[in-house]
Amino acid sequence: MNYYITTPIFYPNSSPHIGTAYTTVAADVLARYHRMLGDQVYFLTGTDENAQKIVRTAEAHHLEPQTYVDGVVERFKELWKSLDISNNDFIRTTEERHGKVVQQIFAKLYEQGDIYKSEYSGWYCTPCETFWTESKLIDGKCPNPDCLRSVELLKEESYFFRLSKYQNALLQYIEEHPDFIQPLSRRNEMIRFIESGLEDLCVSRTTFKWGIKVPFDPKHVVYVWLDALINYISALGYPDGENYQKYWPANVQIMGKDIVRFHAIIWPIILMALDLPLPRLVYGHGWYLSKDGGKISKSRGNVQDSFELIKRYGSDAIRYFLLREMQVGTDGTYSEDNLVERINSDLANDFGNFVSRSLAMVVKYRGGVVPRPVQDGPLEMELKTLSSEVKKGVDESLGRCDLASALEQIWRFIARCNKYVDETAPWSLAKQEDQQERLDTVLYTFVESIRIMAILTAPFMPGITPRICSLLSSDEHLIRWEEADQWGIINSGASVQKGEQLFPRIDISQYAEEVAKPVESEPKQETKHVELEPMKEEISIEDFAKLDLRVGKVLSAEKVAKTDKLLKLEIEISGQVRTVVSGIAQHYAPEDLINKSVVVVANLKPAKLRGITSQGMILAASQGEVLEVLTLDKELPGGAQVK
Ligand code: MSP
Repeated sequence: MNYYITTPIFYPNSSPHIGTAYTTVAADVLARYHRMLGDQVYFLTGTDENAQKIVRTAEAHHLEPQTYVDGVVERFKELWKSLDISNNDFIRTTEERHGKVVQQIFAKLYEQGDIYKSEYSGWYCTPCETFWTESKLIDGKCPNPDCLRSVELLKEESYFFRLSKYQNALLQYIEEHPDFIQPLSRRNEMIRFIESGLEDLCVSRTTFKWGIKVPFDPKHVVYVWLDALINYISALGYPDGENYQKYWPANVQIMGKDIVRFHAIIWPIILMALDLPLPRLVYGHGWYLSKDGGKISKSRGNVQDSFELIKRYGSDAIRYFLLREMQVGTDGTYSEDNLVERINSDLANDFGNFVSRSLAMVVKYRGGVVPRPVQDGPLEMELKTLSSEVKKGVDESLGRCDLASALEQIWRFIARCNKYVDETAPWSLAKQEDQQERLDTVLYTFVESIRIMAILTAPFMPGITPRICSLLSSDEHLIRWEEADQWGIINSGASVQKGEQLFPRIDISQYAEEVAKPVESEPKQETKHVELEPMKEEISIEDFAKLDLRVGKVLSAEKVAKTDKLLKLEIEISGQVRTVVSGIAQHYAPEDLINKSVVVVANLKPAKLRGITSQGMILAASQGEVLEVLTLDKELPGGAQVK
């Protein structure tokens, strides 16, 4: 069977983190499992590079977008390598193989009337790269609960995609294919969303140049989501590529819950419009949250350096933790002490310990030579029955992308094996002359159990499979999925060794400081008690009226070279762009100010700071070391008066 699985393509606007790693690790497990089943697997991941936020981040780093993304994409590739991700392909949306397919599809949809030209007037959230209508905004901000950031007013000539035309066809498809969107909670959410009415989607932009050009109207670039979704077929060489013929439709498209909407609505409608089959399963998992309940994300400053974590604990342990803690339909919580707890209990204590203690007994009582089993007793029968049950359960869970439940079942088997050691007490059998045959059976059962554990865990923790095989002095031909519930595979007479602990216990105290302190978080600002500035002398209303205070929209911000304190801002006031130099660089990263509406003293005499003419001043409140620029919660045009 052919099996095609995809992850979303990631925005390379910042390095990947443990939260973003979940989707890719989960997809990797399914890819590896299907390879073990003998399927021909194509596993795709990649990066989504034509976004407006990429341009902004690159600007803030004073780099060309392409140079900037080239650097970050390398970090993604390195992370996937250190996490043993077995993707067959990595697509970048700046590649030609992708761009040409997007242009071809755009032109086709335009020719057949599914894309038309009109004018967009509404709001755009750049962090989410999403268009919002006025009515969807919450307090004038992005309604995505994880974002809630300011949106920008757009009014530009745009192309639109007729989502509305396909609304009923999509609803009918979802009704007829109950397994298409999973888990059920996401499916219900999507149905409600579609039933509330689909509006045609703006699919081009003219206010920046970074992106794939609309082929017949090159002042437009294609909207990043339309562009990005097409990666799933452009990577296969749509329309004529061999891989396309072989692998489309995808078996599983897996992603975080925040972007199911794009994959379960826009993507299927693109495919319907092209008359192509829809993916068999769109699966939306939860998020990894930090202990304080917020989503792990770079913008919240709560991410730890993933490379450091892998160096510390190893890829297998990180993979295990991520997969084990994310239950279907809910979010998972990540913290380094939870991770260490899982390593110590599940990996070191349950799994690693069974392997080392049982092999140590084969070495001690039989010189490391696997004995011949004589006769199964009820305990062996019970283990055999359990192994069939567990394999069946794992197959079934993996079919539903429920990786946590698959691991739970595997650990049920491991726990039973640990109990078997205590029940059979080989140390006392060894002392009894007439129990030697029984001891042979028990020791043989140990070795076979280890083989079964190695098979079942192979898709999840590929790093330990060769290590277990070397303890069993065998190559990886022993690791065959279909043999996970068969017994009697290892030959008597084979030799085994005790080897090192698979998962040494971790002493959390050696990392205690780092655990408490996220690596990349922003420094916390403590509010100290500071004497307030004395009040100034009274002024008249006429004095106050001399000040021309205006709302200004920050278009760009950058650090002034060779200073720690100054930021150079470009601020739009009544259609004019002014340069304002402000001493706030120690309190704000440049990108934090972009798009903010600030208050500007607009009639201040220009002054030169570090060779730059500053045409005004922005207002900020400060006390001691804390400084907060005054911003407006509601969107007002640049130039509005502040009175
Ligand atoms: N570029 C789009 C996807 C386009 S696919 C055609 C995008 N990129 S992203 O980099 O912002 O997110 C990629 C994936 O990472 C999403 O599935 C998102 O849900 C996931 N995650 C980001 N942070 C996460 C957690 N803290 N926890 C789990 N998944 C998280 O969206």
